[in-house]
Amino acid sequence: MPKVFICRPIPEIAEELLKKAGIQVEKNPEDKILSPDELKKKVTGMDGILSLLSDKITSEVLESAGPQLKIVANYAVGIDNIDIESCKSKGVMVTNTPEVLTEAVAEHVLALMLAVARRVAEADRFTRRGEFKKWMPLGFIGPSLWEKTIGIIGMGRIGSLTGEMARHGFRMNVLYFDLKRDKEFEKKTGAKFASIPELLKTADFVSLNVPLTPQTKHLISGKEFKMMKPTAILINTSRGPVVDEKALVSALKNKEIWGAGLDVFEEEPKINPELMKMDNVVLTPHIASATEEARDAMARMDAENIIAVLEGKKAINPVH
Ligand code: GLV
Ligand code: GLV
Repeated sequence: MPKVFICRPIPEIAEELLKKAGIQVEKNPEDKILSPDELKKKVTGMDGILSLLSDKITSEVLESAGPQLKIVANYAVGIDNIDIESCKSKGVMVTNTPEVLTEAVAEHVLALMLAVARRVAEADRFTRRGEFKKWMPLGFIGPSLWEKTIGIIGMGRIGSLTGEMARHGFRMNVLYFDLKRDKEFEKKTGAKFASIPELLKTADFVSLNVPLTPQTKHLISGKEFKMMKPTAILINTSRGPVVDEKALVSALKNKEIWGAGLDVFEEEPKINPELMKMDNVVLTPHIASATEEARDAMARMDAENIIAVLEGKKAINPVH
């Protein structure tokens, strides 16, 4: 019987589907991130690993699993936690969960845009402190989203849907940068292609929707913040290291930008203490895909990929 290790509890449907397919499931019973050594021990002898973005799947982990390992199914669309080259060279398939979380993440981009601009989290804290004593003609004023310009860096599935929501929900102008132009998206949203500097100089909201790669690390750093409007709001739902967090802190302090909405952090789950003190920053704990619909579908998708590969069929969502 083939064996699969699930690195942390995820929706039960994954285990149900795997068992139904005659796969033996072993799992970390606790919602605790396994240390590299614990992970190495747990994966020994496994045919498949169902990993989370908080698990580093290094060449040592693969080595310690053994030569029978056939698949690492990541419970995420991002795959920067996995040593893809090692997987390739060892003949291990890697799969991810594209498409099923696109709506969830795009919604979260909009949620953060609204939360920062309309100061939702700050106003909630104010209200809970009992400070709402009278209606405030000059209180909590922030920019509107309506007919403003959003600049989207990374026009994959998530970036495109974010653009559509911004266009059709808030009648925003859409600028985007990607390594390739998407004419269909341009037609659907009236979006315009722009270089990163052009986009940063013009956009009222900047949303990062790129994967983390050596090329996108610190894509937004001191120089980029200086190009942005002092009224601009940065939203990051991609991966923390895409933004140089130290540069972000000084840009916010020096009012080079107006605010930021962050779902991901450079040294996650550690948060820069300076960010914690700022009222013009909304922080969420990497929850952009956390809808019932997305998480359930992600669990199914991982199970279906594992079943396919262990039955000798093609992976449904191969990343290499
Ligand atoms: C979440 O960050 C994901 O990559 O799915
Ligand atoms: C991820 O699903 C993307 O392509 O944006």
